[in-house]
Amino acid sequence: MCGIIGYIGNKNIVPLLLNGLKKLEYRGYDSAGICIVSNNRLHLVKKKGEISQLAKNPELNEINGNIGIAHTRWATHGEPNKINAHPHFDCKKEIAIVHNGIIENYHALKELLEKEGHKIVSDTDSEIVAHLVEKFYSGNLENAVIKALKCVEGAFGLAIINNSEEKIIVARRGSPLIIGIGKNEMFVASDVAAILNHTKKVIYLHDNEIAVITKQDYSIKNLEGKQIDKKICEIKWTVDQIEKGGFKHFMLKEIFEQSNVIKNTLRGRIKDSKIKLTLNLNTNLINRIIITACGTSWHAALIGKHIIEKIAEIPVEVDYASEFRYRNPIIKENDLIIAISQSGETADTIAAVKEAKSKRTKTISIINVVGSTIAREVDSGVYLHAGPEIGVASTKAFTCQIVSLLLLALFIRQEKGLRLDKKILQELSILPKKIKQVLKKSDEIRKVAEKFKDSKNFLYLGRGINFPVALEGALKLKEISYIHAEGYPAAEMKHGPIALIDENMPVVFVSPKDHTYEKILNNMEEIKARKGRIIAVINEEDEKLNKVAEDIFRVPKTRAELSPIINIISLQLLAYHIADLKGIDVDKPRNLAKSVTVE
Ligand code: AGP
Ligand code: GLU
Repeated sequence: MCGIIGYIGNKNIVPLLLNGLKKLEYRGYDSAGICIVSNNRLHLVKKKGEISQLAKNPELNEINGNIGIAHTRWATHGEPNKINAHPHFDCKKEIAIVHNGIIENYHALKELLEKEGHKIVSDTDSEIVAHLVEKFYSGNLENAVIKALKCVEGAFGLAIINNSEEKIIVARRGSPLIIGIGKNEMFVASDVAAILNHTKKVIYLHDNEIAVITKQDYSIKNLEGKQIDKKICEIKWTVDQIEKGGFKHFMLKEIFEQSNVIKNTLRGRIKDSKIKLTLNLNTNLINRIIITACGTSWHAALIGKHIIEKIAEIPVEVDYASEFRYRNPIIKENDLIIAISQSGETADTIAAVKEAKSKRTKTISIINVVGSTIAREVDSGVYLHAGPEIGVASTKAFTCQIVSLLLLALFIRQEKGLRLDKKILQELSILPKKIKQVLKKSDEIRKVAEKFKDSKNFLYLGRGINFPVALEGALKLKEISYIHAEGYPAAEMKHGPIALIDENMPVVFVSPKDHTYEKILNNMEEIKARKGRIIAVINEEDEKLNKVAEDIFRVPKTRAELSPIINIISLQLLAYHIADLKGIDVDKPRNLAKSVTVE
């Protein structure tokens, strides 16, 4: 959470920082602030609310300078208000910091600093860092930061400036930070999106690294003071890819991109009916797979279990990363851990991977963001190549995760010397076309959304491989429309949730024609008998279910392994249209942030 951008150079600094913040807004948007050095003074402007509020502040027109840091916040400690907004000052207002993460020992540090006379004005954990740096400062900002960080426990991505040294100090432990390299100018940011229109050359900072950045140069050390040589990476994403491209929201754009981005996930990975993945794996030695993830990625993991068990014939367990990391899980030598994450920066998933590594097991990842922490942490992995996902509600990453899991399952099967079913490969090749057919139903789905947008609750039901689709459909609706929604295995419904059914309860059924079809039909009748209002996602040729359901979304039939992809798209659209019709800013749902880099 939280977006950080910093700049040192000769460009017009205020618009540059504000534009950068705008690109990072998906990471947090409860308050924002900017601090710029000019004439040996630090000028600070902060505001509660979104970046657009900060940008309106007339004070900003009066500041200019060559060094600045800025922040968009997602509060962990202290309510979202002006005082708690970053940047934070030390007592003398000569040091300013922006922070992403949580300083876990901040209570103890606060007590100590207050005893020493420091006046701490905010309720944040972050402000402590400014005071610690002040405590250790004796003419060299870098040295003071190193000393301060030795006292700090927890996670941080930090950018720090002061009034007298022409540099930005950045440091990282747990929260992402990159350095952007320009000509006679340098950038720091939480994410490449913030600086992509200025430079494509970046350095990813690793944990426990600290960098001193000046206009012409940078130097990176570890916290022990040892110089480190880092690789400069060239970013492949274009500015267009991170713009809205005519769509009202990023989420809608990303839903519509799915037919194309899935082609990118597949590109170069199937050749002459063979799966090509570069994985560091001895597939014959895998006895069990554990997939760990959070949120939508966890739903993809549940689908992955069905796919891998069926195709690769290996038992699979799925665990929330936040549970796995503290459970002291039993991991054996021939287990394989798969971490799934769009961002590659989710704190719980990173910790789960570290837990697995500490038990010396093999780890692989399925990640979208190239070079992200998890991608670097694991032995090897599969990138989604879905392009940047900006909408807080994950859509295209989910469907590309399913495709990647399928590729992985097929790869393991192939490497084990088992025969591959060519029909799956054929079906994969026509999947983008089928997705386009679902996307054409957007207007139709909006009409149904109009009918149900004022409902207070929703139930989503599915079976087998489509049960996680019900979970994901419900999550999408909750996240962006704030309507309470629950996903359930259709047959479990009669063990409790059926008590909720009355004429006000919309029940969304995911019911493709597979081996569970007839059973689901019975479940629908049970709902109908209690006057529940049924919306059903069904296959095109299905004539039976349209008699039971009040509204239907017809989608093309595909193989069972791919049906979650086809089915979820109509539910993504349903959630999107309901939220949009309710007037909610779909890309910035309340209380959420795109990447959850805190525990
Ligand atoms: C998805 O719509 C959510 N916003 C959220 O559940 C997300 O999937 C979760 O935080 C995991 O993120 P990751 O895939 O980047 O690890
Ligand atoms: N802990 C800091 C705060 O609440 C930073 C939050 C974050 O990184 O999300 O201000």
